[in-house]
Amino acid sequence: MSSYHIETFGCQMNVADSDMLAGLLEMRGFTRADHSDSANLLVVNTCSVREHAERRARARITEYANRKASRNPRQRLWVIGCMAERLGDRLREHIPGIDRIIGATRVEHLAHDLDALLEELHADTGPREPQAPGVTAFLPVMRGCDNYCSYCVVPFVRGREHSVPSGDVVTRARDLAARGVRELTLLGQNVNSYRDGALDFPDLLTRVHDIESIHRLRFTTSHPKDCTEKLIRTMASLKKVCNHVHLPVQSGSTRVLARMNRRYTREEYRGRIETIRAHMPDADITTDVMVGFPGETEEDFKQTLSLFENVRFTAAFMFAYSDRERTAAASMDGRVAETVKKRRLEELISLQTGITKEHYAAMVGRTVSVLFTRRQDGRDRGWIGQDHGAKRVLVRCDDPLAGTILPVTVSRSSGMTLCAERVSP
Ligand code: SAH
Ligand code: SF4
Ligand code: F3S
Repeated sequence: MSSYHIETFGCQMNVADSDMLAGLLEMRGFTRADHSDSANLLVVNTCSVREHAERRARARITEYANRKASRNPRQRLWVIGCMAERLGDRLREHIPGIDRIIGATRVEHLAHDLDALLEELHADTGPREPQAPGVTAFLPVMRGCDNYCSYCVVPFVRGREHSVPSGDVVTRARDLAARGVRELTLLGQNVNSYRDGALDFPDLLTRVHDIESIHRLRFTTSHPKDCTEKLIRTMASLKKVCNHVHLPVQSGSTRVLARMNRRYTREEYRGRIETIRAHMPDADITTDVMVGFPGETEEDFKQTLSLFENVRFTAAFMFAYSDRERTAAASMDGRVAETVKKRRLEELISLQTGITKEHYAAMVGRTVSVLFTRRQDGRDRGWIGQDHGAKRVLVRCDDPLAGTILPVTVSRSSGMTLCAERVSP
């Protein structure tokens, strides 16, 4: 019997691609391997967004290639995704054990290409139904990106922006719902530029919202330049759409934002936040930010700190700028020393960690509705889920809760997790 194992680096788009590939393999008779070393087909789905992400993936691929050579030469090793797109055959020069390299722009078409690629790996069982998806699933509604933020590799590795026809999105969403998915996250590098004829993203959201057995709807990512009032009003009016807006800011300095080619100012960003808070006062707002972009001065960095103090994000993904080949920023002057980046990053993380803790602490005593997704073992044994916003919740309980949505009362906050008790009926 042929088995596969997929390891995924990078963003939700890669998770969605890996899930899709898993489904295609299962329909061809493959089963999920218990361990990477016993799999007949081992796939690494890679990310190129920062150098660190590439370094991690490369180390893992090398480890797999070496193990394959010494212990299991018949295993097939595929490298797919963004780093496969960026480096192509150059990857094989460094790691000869790789059998196939499938770039991110081709992964999307694997439904048509896979049989040809599988050659020596045909499974000996007949076609099967793919395994049931989990309680939550990611659904790409658009791919690629045309924004060319000056630091970003995504437009180079994911290609031009294109939307999935709305009919296909709805069919796929219905299918996932029928197979047990309760919460759907619509994905795109910049979902607000979704278009299908006259239909825009808020319209698409409304159509997916109409699917009865979907109980929760999320989406990511919104670009501040086109996070419109229509979108925010639509979110506020659709009750299954979660109370969470992820709005990457990248920097608090208008000067740096211009060099990043983000096409909004600090004030315009603040305006978006005000609109969100006016229509969705309880919403969790989260962001992405980076420090040490070429030319970032101490004063620019202080602008980022003050924006964070002002907006008070529920949480933030914080990064040190990393040079990416071919991007405009890679050839800009004003390189910031690694030591300075590190110090700025630590300062920002320490500020935001305090703010996140305050948001979580303010939840104690409140009753929230939680969708439970997985069991957690160890010292804090129980069930993990998410509230209607962006917060992680743990309930100490052994009943099988996967896929249920229950009201719980928050008893304690452990910084980044809310501990809660079930509300007695
Ligand atoms: N499409 C999404 C995010 C793409 S990448 C968006 O537009 O927001 C996720 C995050 O990685 C970005 O928001 C940014 O904060 C960070 N990032 C991207 N390129 C980077 C680079 N070269 N160095 C450091 N961080 C980077
Ligand atoms: Fe990268 Fe900017 Fe596109 Fe996001 S919007 S993927 S940061 S180029
Ligand atoms: Fe995602 Fe990384 Fe590619 S962030 S789009 S997997 S470069």
